[in-house]
Amino acid sequence: MNYPFWEIPYLGSGWVIGIISIFHVMISQFAVGGGLYLPLAERKAMRMTDRTAADAWMKQLAGHSKFFLKVTGIYGTVSGVGIWFAIGLTHPEATSTLIHNFVFGWAIEWIFFLVEMTSIAVYYYTWDRIDPKLHLKVGWVYAVVSFFTLFIINGILTFMLAPGSTWLGVAGTGHEASVFWSAFFNPTYWPSLLLRCCVCASLAGIWALISASRIDSDSARNLKIAVVRWSAKWLAPSFLAMPFLFGWYLLMVPSSQRALLTLGVDTIGTGTFSVITRVALIIVITSATVVGVTYYLAYRNPEDFTLSHALAILVLALVATGAGEYSREMLRKPYVIGQWMYSNGVRVPDAIKIDQRGYLAKSNWVWNNADTSYSRGEAIFRGECGSCHTLHGYRPLATLLSGRDSANIRAFVSMLHEYKPDSPYHRFMPPMVGTRQDVDDLANFLNAQVNPPATAIAAQR
Ligand code: HEC
Repeated sequence: MNYPFWEIPYLGSGWVIGIISIFHVMISQFAVGGGLYLPLAERKAMRMTDRTAADAWMKQLAGHSKFFLKVTGIYGTVSGVGIWFAIGLTHPEATSTLIHNFVFGWAIEWIFFLVEMTSIAVYYYTWDRIDPKLHLKVGWVYAVVSFFTLFIINGILTFMLAPGSTWLGVAGTGHEASVFWSAFFNPTYWPSLLLRCCVCASLAGIWALISASRIDSDSARNLKIAVVRWSAKWLAPSFLAMPFLFGWYLLMVPSSQRALLTLGVDTIGTGTFSVITRVALIIVITSATVVGVTYYLAYRNPEDFTLSHALAILVLALVATGAGEYSREMLRKPYVIGQWMYSNGVRVPDAIKIDQRGYLAKSNWVWNNADTSYSRGEAIFRGECGSCHTLHGYRPLATLLSGRDSANIRAFVSMLHEYKPDSPYHRFMPPMVGTRQDVDDLANFLNAQVNPPATAIAAQR
């Protein structure tokens, strides 16, 4: 169960995680892709026959590695901790389930991460100080361990969308950890890993273009042409493989979740629930634009490539990443852990128990003053609806319910509580769980938001 006192007005708790994690994904996938970029670029320079060109290339690379160290070591690390902070507060129950299942996964991840941070620091501080061959080896150590951080975290992220039937078979028995590997290598593991690898390569190229754009075309014309072109090529794997990998990924997504996407496609004209489809379109359009713009502005005209061009590509990539992560979250609705735990922290098999004993009965987080119907309703709203809705901001219940009177609002909450199997809301909203009294309390609280007493009185007059 979630903490019923944690409410983020207007933005909603989901976006707290969302903003931190989109930022984090942009940087951490750069850390993985860039981890390969650095030793490959260094090896390329070592093999050059023209010594002046090679030296200039190395100098540029050393500068880029400083930028890399700052971006990944500072912003990547801090935002990673931020994610833990945010998920612990917004999804305590799901976070606890993940820790119970994957504690060793995370332990492994952190070891890799420690080696990753150490090796990139060593890599940066030993330019020109140790034997070039040894320096290159440090770069390779970085590349391998940073790849493995992705390898591990991908298992945990994809598990949440599709835990797989083996894990679901033992969920709740206390033996979940015995099926660690099947939960880890769940149905969407491989397509998702390959997709993310493509994104990592693209981000390596895009961030490298930021460094490359700052090379002066007049004094270092050849260097600029070479570095910009070489970096732009890092977007090619995405361009070639992404559509296929994306198709494979969707094939592996459980059909109940895929239905959310087709629901959007089917109704795209009428706009019933097309958010996820619209977002999917944004991904396709922005990704295509990134590739097109990089080809024309960077690859074709490397000399005129400026920092503003590079920043424009970075912003487009940010939009594409954001849209990608957003639709991954949306695909998972109404669950935070597929088929097992609803987004609001209620375990699927517990719903009946909660209907009998009441939603707040076992909540240690409700203050003693939650004794009026209004304050109980508020706690239920925060606990059961707050992970997806706010009152007046993102996906606002005051607006979504506007135009309904109190009987009508009660009927809606009741409907979510009874929840006939054929209700279309099943596809993205969990049932409202609790006693009859809980239904009334929530309905009263929502009614007070939609029809504040003053408006109700005015209407009566
Ligand atoms: C898993 C996330 C999630 C949870 C939890 C959730 N909802 Fe929703 N709800 C949605 C989504 C997604 C929509 C569709 C929003 C849209 O069309 O913009 C929605 C739509 C609605 C609508 C508008 C329905 C319509 O047909 O216009 C209402 C009213 C609503 N929710 C009430 C609630 C209440 C009350 C709760 C708590 C008991 C709740 N929701 C919990 C995800 C959720």
